Amino acid sequence: MRNALVLSLVVLGTGTLPLAAQDKGNIANGREVAAQHCTRCHVVGDINPTGGISSTPSFQILVKRRPDYRTRFETFFARRPHPAFLSIKGLGRLRPDLPPNAEPVELTEEDVMDVVAFVETLKAQPKAPKKP
Ligand code: HEC
Repeated sequence: MRNALVLSLVVLGTGTLPLAAQDKGNIANGREVAAQHCTRCHVVGDINPTGGISSTPSFQILVKRRPDYRTRFETFFARRPHPAFLSIKGLGRLRPDLPPNAEPVELTEEDVMDVVAFVETLKAQPKAPKKP
């Protein structure tokens, strides 16, 4: 597990999908993790259509506009701004040198893959309504 994670960090940016083979994520847990930890900043499907922080892209936009969205979600914990506040069990916080810019959160690699499985279900959903 840990090796897969480290590998995913090493190959970040090369366009490969190191964790893609494990696409049996638990959608229900992924939705729960996203609801608890991602909606603080992101609009996530129908969970918080008028929530999030407006400068933060919604999950729907990421899925729609980024052809490599799956890789981005598989490695989001290594992508700004997440490394400052998010750690993966067994791997720690990737940027402990930075002060956390949000309440620190620890997820497992399974949580990450479950979020990826949940994100795949967003493709079929309509766009979030515009914020007032
Ligand atoms: C404290 C706010 C915050 C939280 C909490 C947060 N994000 Fe983000 N996320 C951002 C911001 C801001 C960006 C846009 C960064 C940019 O464009 O430079 C972003 C971008 C992303 C991206 C695109 C990254 C890229 O390089 O294209 C993904 C994927 C992502 N977030 C997934 C998640 C997931 C999954 C969670 C929950 C486990 C989460 N985020 C929680 C603020 C947050």
